[in-house]
Amino acid sequence: MLRVDHAGEYGATRIYQGQLDVLRRGRAAGEIRRMAEAEQRHLAAFETLLYQRRVRPTLLQPLWSVAGYALGAATALLGEQAAMACTVAVEEVIDEHYRDQAERLADADPGLTETILAYRDDEIAHRDAALAMGAADTPGYDLLSAAIKTGSRLAIWLSTRF
Ligand SMILES: [Fe+2]
Ligand SMILES: [Fe+2]
Repeated sequence: MLRVDHAGEYGATRIYQGQLDVLRRGRAAGEIRRMAEAEQRHLAAFETLLYQRRVRPTLLQPLWSVAGYALGAATALLGEQAAMACTVAVEEVIDEHYRDQAERLADADPGLTETILAYRDDEIAHRDAALAMGAADTPGYDLLSAAIKTGSRLAIWLSTRF
């Protein structure tokens, strides 16, 4: 669980880095930067947990670095709305993922469950902020969203195993 969560938060920082490099001076830059800062906090916490519990990080981190950045930059190149649509899609998958983990962990590790639920709240707030910025008005929203969700679920599946 820690390995995949660490991988996911790492991927999130790469997505936002890709978006910020493209949309640095755009209207959405402030919002994206705030989201990116939250992902940095999440990532740092999981890094500490990996270290404390002697969990190795995913072997796929170099892949998530490139794939995350490419996804962020590509959606940002389509425009601010597409960048926000990317956030909505990723956060919806993470919302499910963290909810599922919290259910399975609840009694076994209340402290970690609390952390995961707090981060899940942050991710839901990111989704809502992205929707408020017009994510769903992106041309081809359903297709874009479905593709990103499929990719995110595949990344979760892979990071759980490798
Ligand atoms: Fe996060
Ligand atoms: Fe997020």
